[in-house]
Amino acid sequence: MSVAGEQKPVTVPALRRMKGTPQVWLTAYTTPMAKLLDPHCDVLLVGDSLGMVLYGLPSTLAVTLEMMIAHGAAVVRGARHACIVVDLPFGSYQESPELAFRHAARVLAETGAQAVKLEGGIEMAETIRFLTQRGIPVCGHVGLMPQSVNVAGGFRATGRTDDEAARVTMDAHAVASAGAFAVVVEGTLEPVAAAITAAISIPTIGIGASAACDGQVLVIDDILGTFNDFVPRFVKRYAELGVEISRAAAAYAADVRARRFPGEKNVFTLKTNTPI
Ligand code: KIV
Repeated sequence: MSVAGEQKPVTVPALRRMKGTPQVWLTAYTTPMAKLLDPHCDVLLVGDSLGMVLYGLPSTLAVTLEMMIAHGAAVVRGARHACIVVDLPFGSYQESPELAFRHAARVLAETGAQAVKLEGGIEMAETIRFLTQRGIPVCGHVGLMPQSVNVAGGFRATGRTDDEAARVTMDAHAVASAGAFAVVVEGTLEPVAAAITAAISIPTIGIGASAACDGQVLVIDDILGTFNDFVPRFVKRYAELGVEISRAAAAYAADVRARRFPGEKNVFTLKTNTPI
């Protein structure tokens, strides 16, 4: 039975033990969304994708630690079951293991989340080891790394050439050996993701990396149809809430303009003495 099925709080060691079992991860950024997703997910990821999805930023680079802490705490308030993982934003961990520790410790202390996620492979191994040895569970993130968009020159899948495949494979091994409890593999060709998943001992969580990964993660607004600036081909739409929201706003606007709203049921009279 999946960890989600048992409805007990999901811990980091439980996720680590779920190697080979499909883990369900979704992003969440707010309390109401966390409440809705929590019973269905093993992990709620407070991704720095919130910069693009909630704040209209062109990339994740301008996301701050304060934003991640505010949204991380909001998600923790809405979750009782899923494990909460918060992204460390760009610039908060790359400089040194010590700086990464200070910022990751703040994230855990000020949000109540259980773990952090950071991008990078071989070059981040020392930092991952430093954090995990000091009480901070870390999820790695290799393959397409959105915080490196300027180095990569855009958002592009990796693993097409032998060099790319070797690089992402070595990155995943480095992250696993450094003590990460799981690794997100983003935008990576299926054979490469499959080989990595078979080779490393920690769960791989795919996003645009095929069903060969141990688990899957997607951005919640992508599956609900509420973020339409850019829809990657690996996204599957499970609802068209963007269309629904637009329809509801149009109906409300028409009612207000026609003075159909508020109606009798929506106004207070001398006879109504019930709470709002
Ligand atoms: O920021 C994010 O939401 C992420 C996931 C999509 C993996 O890192």
